Amino acid sequence: MKKLIALLLAAVMTMSLLTACGGGNASETTSDAAEAESTENEAAQDEAQAPEADEADTQSEPEAEEGETEADAEAGDVSEALADGVLTVGTNAEFPPFEYVGDDGEPDGFDIALIKAIGEKLGVEVQVENMEFDSLVASIGSKVDVSIAGMTVTEERQKSVDFSDAYYEAVQYVILPEGSEIAAAADLEGKAIGVQLGTTGDFIASDDIADSKVSQYNKGMDAVNDLINGKLDCVIIDKNPALVFASKFEGQLTAIDGAEFGFEPEEYAVAMPKGDTALADQVNAALAEIKADGTFDKLVETYIEN
Ligand code: ARG
Repeated sequence: MKKLIALLLAAVMTMSLLTACGGGNASETTSDAAEAESTENEAAQDEAQAPEADEADTQSEPEAEEGETEADAEAGDVSEALADGVLTVGTNAEFPPFEYVGDDGEPDGFDIALIKAIGEKLGVEVQVENMEFDSLVASIGSKVDVSIAGMTVTEERQKSVDFSDAYYEAVQYVILPEGSEIAAAADLEGKAIGVQLGTTGDFIASDDIADSKVSQYNKGMDAVNDLINGKLDCVIIDKNPALVFASKFEGQLTAIDGAEFGFEPEEYAVAMPKGDTALADQVNAALAEIKADGTFDKLVETYIEN
């Protein structure tokens, strides 16, 4: 008898679920009442609903596919990003010595060499796509698998991507015309500051410096050219690129450590699709090997110290 009531309740519930897609009060009340019944009733409901669920499954997704997905998840070490044997990497090759366009027209630099070394460890081919820095984060997981671009780990970016372990410490530098009076944080207030769009230098200039007049460029070097042309008071950009850019105008520009302006240290990492822990594990493992076997130091020597 109890079982019959349970079956009836289940039937009523199923019917109200089927008829009231919008979920009116009536169906809610019915299911609440059903939930309040004994566990025996719940078991009966499951039985009553099971055939219906099976039918839906056969119509949409074949069961075999479901099984495959589960197996993949259980294996835990196969990232979709690597499954095709190619790791597509977004960069912005306007950031020497980390990335720049080489003599052959292809992206080169420390980051490019590093991600190729990572690809080698993972047994995948690395394909580098050069794009604007500002569009990198949004492209991860769609246009590209990952990004390496001297990209600083920030909380804001962590809302949309995951980062590998950090591989390099950096800080923003201030490039000044020789003889500039700018020497401390307060001197930057109200100044015309050039930055690369969407970078941490941009965030400091736009958000942290009072009354700044910020000009955002797609290429850091274009900002430096405008500094030379007298259109800007300074350029805020990462240390190593700042040193490279300033060295192109020896005697005209100097690059000052942003620590003197109170800028915080930053860390570069590989940006990856959010939640792809399999990929993160593999990239971090490869990175650790590259550091342990001396490859990393060689790359620093080749690309950064020379
Ligand atoms: N580290 C800075 C940032 O993450 C600048 C990076 C610029 N990188 C580049 N490839 N242009 O915002």
